[in-house]
Amino acid sequence: VRVAGVPRRTIWLEADGWSVGVIDQTKLPAVFETVSLKSYHDVARAIRHMVVRGAPLIGVAAAYGLALALRDDPSDKHLSTAAADLFATRPTAINLRWALDRVKAVVAPLPPDERAAAAYREAARIAEEDVETCRAIGEHGARELVRIYQARGGSQPLRVLTHCNAGWLATVDIGTALAPIYRLFDDGVPIRVWVDETRPRNQGYLTAWELREHGVPFSVIADNAGGHYMMRGEVDAVIVGSDRTTANGDVCNKIGTYLKALAAFDNEIPFFAAVPSSTIDFSLPEGASIPIEEREPSELTSDFEARNPAFDVTPARLVTGIVTERGVARADAASLAALFPERVG
Ligand code: MRU
Repeated sequence: VRVAGVPRRTIWLEADGWSVGVIDQTKLPAVFETVSLKSYHDVARAIRHMVVRGAPLIGVAAAYGLALALRDDPSDKHLSTAAADLFATRPTAINLRWALDRVKAVVAPLPPDERAAAAYREAARIAEEDVETCRAIGEHGARELVRIYQARGGSQPLRVLTHCNAGWLATVDIGTALAPIYRLFDDGVPIRVWVDETRPRNQGYLTAWELREHGVPFSVIADNAGGHYMMRGEVDAVIVGSDRTTANGDVCNKIGTYLKALAAFDNEIPFFAAVPSSTIDFSLPEGASIPIEEREPSELTSDFEARNPAFDVTPARLVTGIVTERGVARADAASLAALFPERVG
């Protein structure tokens, strides 16, 4: 994605060759500011306070966090302390554990003096793979969406609704749910995006910001407006990301996603989840067992007692298709297993 016309990624190694640069997403959309993370504690804080956020980006940041930790102290003890601290930052997105496990598996057999360099290499590999994964999701998702556009006669722009930010900012580049949208836009297909505000953290503003940077037309709407536009026939498809998808195709994503899926189902509007395989948890049979993060009530209100769940589960029966880097699966165990046989069992 271009920022002020310049192609950028959301995480990078700084010029010193070891500290990790990220965009401070708590400052967007008002200010574009970058920060340098210099220790694994910096990374853990950045994930916890949502300086970096979005399942795939959290995973890559955590991988670099382990590299920073091993640079300070490559012992077994420090490796397991740092991995545990990073893992404890946010409970729902499975990419965090997936990325930490990958780095740990690479470095554990190595002598201490080789561990930090190997961790940096593995983190960079995870980042590169994420870019390629998102590109492939964009291609497969665009094929689905263009079919919907053509079925409607192609007389007016395709109108796609999205919730939260599953875009460039949530990944290393391109995004998951926004990847097909960028792809269609770049290919010249007329497209317009309904952007849910996504209270209480307003990740919809991040989506709006990056769509504006790229030139994609959109309208921000209040979280409760989606059903209204669906009922009036002004939404052709819904596409969201996922923080964890279980073996049966249940999709856990930002709080409010479930209500959008219900409204889409009632209005016979296709509802897609765009899911890198790193967010599929084949060890969980269904969404009910996913740990749901409860964040500080003060994100919502300081005046009243409040609860603030960050995610909800959309049951597979409401999901039209799961767009992965290997193609589009039906939201059921057999379909997902057929795409990723090596992950099952
Ligand atoms: O709490 P956040 O902002 O980290 O939540 C992010 C989401 O819910 C995204 O939709 C999800 O991570 C998928 S993005 C690829």
